[in-house]
Amino acid sequence: MRIVVLISGSGSNLQALLDACAKGEIQAAIVGVISNKPNVKGLARATQAGVATQVLQHQDYASREAFDQKLQQAIDAYEADLVVLAGFMRILTPAFVDHYAGRLINIHPSLLPKFTGLHTHQRAIDEGATEHGASVHFVTSELDGGPVIIQGKVPVLPEDTAESLAQRVLVQEHIIYPRAVQWFVTGALQLTDGRCYLNGAKLPVQGVQV
Ligand code: GAR
Repeated sequence: MRIVVLISGSGSNLQALLDACAKGEIQAAIVGVISNKPNVKGLARATQAGVATQVLQHQDYASREAFDQKLQQAIDAYEADLVVLAGFMRILTPAFVDHYAGRLINIHPSLLPKFTGLHTHQRAIDEGATEHGASVHFVTSELDGGPVIIQGKVPVLPEDTAESLAQRVLVQEHIIYPRAVQWFVTGALQLTDGRCYLNGAKLPVQGVQV
């Protein structure tokens, strides 16, 4: 299988996926990495791993639709079987999401359906949550609303700041994302009628819990 990863920044999740591919824990190839921001660390990580990179800056396009069309062309040129959003900080148009239905996944830094959108770690602290984490989910037109595949949990500690909590959540992200991708690659994971199935069994709405 051929995987394209979309990033906007540091790319630590991309690194976890590259490492898992190198170790054979994901039996697929990351064939391209596309960033909407130039000069980010994730691009250097891809280059270091010998993966082709591309920068498409959204401000160069007249509309969200025009950018997403260009992005779709770039992804399809890699003949991607799976598109992985790894810290890609853009809202995608319905046409783009529909084009990749069932083969577009995202990682979001909260225990969905809690805390969709931004500033998830601070919001978890402000709300007095005792646990927090990250979710891997199929992408649908609803922002951070698609069917959840897997969640990794961490406790929220009394002394936590948004930064310390983010660091602890990232450790979980780097565990759950490669796992979800390998399930997809082997065909163990399926999206049918808006629900996730793993090895033929319907997953709970929160996905697999780690
Ligand atoms: C990760 O925490 C990811 O969950 C989050 O951005 C970070 C990217 O880190 N994604 C979102 O907030 C998407 N809405 P990384 O670039 O080091 O992988």
